[in-house]
Amino acid sequence: MTNKLKLFIGNWKMFGDFGSFKIVNSINKFAIKNKKFNNKKIVICVPNTLIHFFKKKLKKKIISIGAQNCHENEKYGPFTGSVSAFMLKKMGAEYIILGHSENRQEGEVNSLIKKKIISSLKQKLNVIFCIGETSKDKSKGRTFPILRSQIKGSLEKKFNMNKIILAYEPVWSIGTNKIPKKNDLENTIKYIKKFFKKNFKTTKTPKVLYGGSVNSKNIKLFSSITDIDGFLIGGASQSSKKFIDIIKNYYK
Ligand code: PGA
Repeated sequence: MTNKLKLFIGNWKMFGDFGSFKIVNSINKFAIKNKKFNNKKIVICVPNTLIHFFKKKLKKKIISIGAQNCHENEKYGPFTGSVSAFMLKKMGAEYIILGHSENRQEGEVNSLIKKKIISSLKQKLNVIFCIGETSKDKSKGRTFPILRSQIKGSLEKKFNMNKIILAYEPVWSIGTNKIPKKNDLENTIKYIKKFFKKNFKTTKTPKVLYGGSVNSKNIKLFSSITDIDGFLIGGASQSSKKFIDIIKNYYK
């Protein structure tokens, strides 16, 4: 088993209240207990309503709390119901998910996601930038062109790439229990890294996570793909047991 840093990032989506602190607390306790084992980073991205509460309540915090989206405007403005990266940072968010397919389905396009990335980077948030093809794209053999256009459409060479983590999430695998074939996933992760380096003329390999129906059973298959730098975990992150079992089984 490699000792390369692996990220385990939970995406709670629209879930949770103050009582859900027990989930975050159990995960944090697990992380403290297993601090010496394996080189891993745990982040839980929660609704905005919980960021500050969890940050304050966590004692001896070694996991990080993240947000799941923001308004593109930098700080404040006449945008009813919206929250900026500046405000999320103030609440204690250290990470932010951007470009998630559930937001893309609601109309977020590459250029808008780019503005959100710029605002988030200004706040020194770590950006988890989601990309992925739909089942229609896949059936037409358009996976790679889609990934290329998503990367080119939202990232720029001048961005601080140290703060950007890519998350490959095939839309058809989110919440469906369908996962890519090992060989396909291996090739896609390799392709994303290669394209990123070529496109931005950099020798630095980006971190690329996999997301989509990750659970404690299929994690073993993913752990054999060493190019994957970690996981973006939706449904299973809403239970401390399921989330911790994923990490335990990954290193088993
Ligand atoms: P899932 O979601 O693990 O429930 O498939 C992943 C995600 O949406 O990030």
